[in-house]
Amino acid sequence: MTQHEIDAASLVKAKAIFESGEVYGFEVGTVAGLCAIHKALFGGLYDFAGQIRTLNISKGSFRFANALYLQQILPVIEKMPENDFPAIVAKYVEMNVAHPFMEGNGRSGRIWLDMMLRKRLGKVVDWRNIEKRAYLSAMERSPVNDLEIRTLLENALTTEIDNREILFKGIERSYFYEGYDAEAPSATSISTAGD
Ligand SMILES: Nc1ncnc2c1ncn2[C@@H]1O[C@H](COP(=O)(O)OP(=O)(O)O)[C@@H](O)[C@H]1O
Ligand SMILES: [Mg+2]
Repeated sequence: MTQHEIDAASLVKAKAIFESGEVYGFEVGTVAGLCAIHKALFGGLYDFAGQIRTLNISKGSFRFANALYLQQILPVIEKMPENDFPAIVAKYVEMNVAHPFMEGNGRSGRIWLDMMLRKRLGKVVDWRNIEKRAYLSAMERSPVNDLEIRTLLENALTTEIDNREILFKGIERSYFYEGYDAEAPSATSISTAGD
């Protein structure tokens, strides 16, 4: 399978867990819940679907948590509070720093974030309101300072947590952040730049 085919198949799976409601049965804010999302998105596509990585990885000039420490830090991140919006963003940022999977951290992590926001605040992110460049640059900045990503996310929150248009376009947007364009004809689309 090409990268484009894997991403397309994963997008179908991502939409299906919302369609069926399966995603609402996963644990919220836990490592097991994140692994369940990852497995649902990438099962049959990546052999490491739902599995914590054992190798070190980096993007740009940032190296994510050393694989040697993941088993120690993941339970600590899981216990981070979710009482209010800043706390939830801080938890999401910390999970991104951990980057527990070899690939697919962005797409699974954003669903994990939305499930916390939904449960705790009765809100989700309307990802249509966050531009790709702005999102990625705020995430690159986030290990040092999470103000930028917090502001972007806060301005994109909606209480329409069951609006299908918002949910499905949001999932497509999440895949678009990672280099997959659902609307581009596959013959002319070029898969991923940058990762
Ligand atoms: N330089 C960086 N520093 C910190 N986080 C980053 C950096 N670059 C990308 N990210 C985060 O990593 C995510 C991509 O991780 P990745 O495992 O490739 O997920 P996916 O396969 O779903 O794209 C981005 O969505 C962003 O949140
Ligand atoms: Mg990726």
